[in-house]
Amino acid sequence: MSPENAASPLQYGRAGSNAGQPLTRRDGLLKVTGRATYAADNHPDGVLYAVAAGASIARGRVTSLDVAAAKAHPGVVEVLTPANRPPLAHDPDEKMPPFGFRVDVLQDDTVRYVNQPIAMVIAETLEAATEGASLLDPHYEVESAAIDLESGERFAPAAVGVGAAARTAHGDVEAGLAEAVRVTEVDYETPPQYHNAMEPHAVVAEWDGDRVTLDMPNQALALSAAAYGAYFGIPAENVLIRSPFLGGGFGSKAILNGPQILTILAARMLGRPVKLALPRKQMFGPVGHRGRTWQKLRIGTDGEGRMTALHHHALAETSTFDDFIEPSANIALPLYAAPAILAEHEGLRLNVGTPGPMRAPGAASGSAALEAAIDEAAEACGMDPLAFRLANYAETEPATGRPFSSKTLRECYAEGAKRFGWSGRPLEPRRMRDENGFLVGWGMGTAVFHCPHFPAEARATLRADGTALVETAGADMGQGAWTALAQIAAEALGLDPSQVEFHSGLSNLPDGGVAGGSGHTASAGLALHKAGGDAIARLAELATADPASPLFGAGNIGIVAREGRLYRRDDETRSDSYADILKRAGRAQIVGTAKAARDPAVASAYAMFSHGAVFAEVKVDPDLGQVRATRLVGAFAAGRIINPRLVQSQYYGGMIWGVSFALHEEAVTDRRTGRIMNADLAEYHVPVNADVPSVEAILIPEEDAHVNPLGVKGVGEIGITGTVGAVANAVWHATGVRVRRFPVRIEDLVAGRKVA
Ligand code: MOS
Repeated sequence: MSPENAASPLQYGRAGSNAGQPLTRRDGLLKVTGRATYAADNHPDGVLYAVAAGASIARGRVTSLDVAAAKAHPGVVEVLTPANRPPLAHDPDEKMPPFGFRVDVLQDDTVRYVNQPIAMVIAETLEAATEGASLLDPHYEVESAAIDLESGERFAPAAVGVGAAARTAHGDVEAGLAEAVRVTEVDYETPPQYHNAMEPHAVVAEWDGDRVTLDMPNQALALSAAAYGAYFGIPAENVLIRSPFLGGGFGSKAILNGPQILTILAARMLGRPVKLALPRKQMFGPVGHRGRTWQKLRIGTDGEGRMTALHHHALAETSTFDDFIEPSANIALPLYAAPAILAEHEGLRLNVGTPGPMRAPGAASGSAALEAAIDEAAEACGMDPLAFRLANYAETEPATGRPFSSKTLRECYAEGAKRFGWSGRPLEPRRMRDENGFLVGWGMGTAVFHCPHFPAEARATLRADGTALVETAGADMGQGAWTALAQIAAEALGLDPSQVEFHSGLSNLPDGGVAGGSGHTASAGLALHKAGGDAIARLAELATADPASPLFGAGNIGIVAREGRLYRRDDETRSDSYADILKRAGRAQIVGTAKAARDPAVASAYAMFSHGAVFAEVKVDPDLGQVRATRLVGAFAAGRIINPRLVQSQYYGGMIWGVSFALHEEAVTDRRTGRIMNADLAEYHVPVNADVPSVEAILIPEEDAHVNPLGVKGVGEIGITGTVGAVANAVWHATGVRVRRFPVRIEDLVAGRKVA
């Protein structure tokens, strides 16, 4: 069997083996019994504790710090400030591609946002470090800060997101709008959101000469090891990152930040291990967030409700010193068949920490606005929102004309609508009430997310006892990657997943690529699949060259691997077990390796996306305006499903985040000081159990022969994209009020004067 043959998606269906089975998480038991060791659970001998002091002003200069008071506190070992911070080998004001941002590591006394580190106290105990930091008594020269739309400086960004186009034009939007029968023109606003993983950013750094071991949650181990190596002037292989478990990441743990770098620096300076676990409040500022956006949509439609033009303009905040522009408007490019589309972005410089990728970057905020605007355009045409979307269904990618690698969105619409009961929906708002007199509304949104693919490597070792070890430096931040990846490897190896030991989460393993962009299972999975195929091919070489093997002389191509045995393809009565082949050859093991990346020709020939449709029900208290999401049905098509249990769970998580985006989540900035007023999990609202509706996720079968040889697409981020608009549209359907800033607030509904 050749690796190429092994990669045929059809073979999985025939093999009837383990991929496709709803196995439970490999790390589940360890996590629920508290035995999973997270970064901050490590206590090396002699460990010191670091606490950063964060700026309390948004712009200005630190004029004094009482370092002596902090140092005099019992247990305090050192205070790092711009005055004594040792040099770094890489200029922190130089970005480090591909995901590196400028980091605040006490370059100077300038303050550019609240919670920027202005000092770091290292002490024998966490309490001493915390107390020491509180004694620093910073004084500032305060300058007036850019806090809001009015005070920020606008600019034209060179790129948005991670290297995406800031402006894409297809056709003539103004001409399309001019010939439209109706033009829907609306503004939508999305708030700043902070990743707020349950596990904060943490690191335990321990140096041994010019080598450093970093226990830290990390979504991009190989890239990060190289970047830390560059900052500290050592080769990447001298950096060992151990990230066996992550308590969430959502994009923020793929990117280096100031507090973690300072901790590593302190460990080297002091010659002792140092631990940092960011307090919740400091998660708001130096470690990225989803930037605030102001979006304008113009949708022209003809007499039949077909779009003549789609214009999506997004203004997105970034920091005063670096660029990450939430790529919101690009969501207008792949979905609707408008003959003219313009997607464009502007940046707004504010005194905030630099934003970064946060689960479904651009797509979440962009589709929130787009799907709500689509609902408004459907209303303007007097059309059912689903009928309107179907009237504008794009058979090929509108802006480029490229075929989709697969697109099963019609089935998502149909199955989701059926399950939800959409056909019973009155067109007009305010027509449904429940038994308690609450206003009931139904809304929908289209879900879409692209399919990036990261180059990845893997190793598969078949052992003499017939089991295997497979290795790749990936990250499982809760999505279940390790379980699904082990299933893929087991399949390639012709073994049961229980016979496959899976190692990951260590930067000295073969580079598993980035756990991000919903691309980890496909990227690392393809590498594992090929490595497994390579091991089997090598094993087959041994067997077919061994006169004692029933497979002698068969040639590699004529071999099939299944259940720990190799079979002659043309005569399955002749087979040989892995263990016997290795034993006769006197080998303890046989090792397969692989590198895998996306074929650039395929990448440019096809538009590759996961698709879905989300249907939402909300109930609104007619007296108080309180909104509750009560029911969500999502139907998603994302290629081949490796593990339906885990995939469904990803969709649930995404959809619940969509509810959060629509109804709960927002960092509230004090316009006088630039401080975030709800920088804690008590007041930064996310849905708790009582807020989470009934959620269903339907897996629509889809075969994608192009996206990658496994046919696997991403599932982690798409769930947010359809849901935000669906919930907002349901709120309108319940109340007749269009709330055009997220999250939907009671006061906005009351101001719409139709609630009561
Ligand atoms: Mo995600 S924002 O790609 O971790």
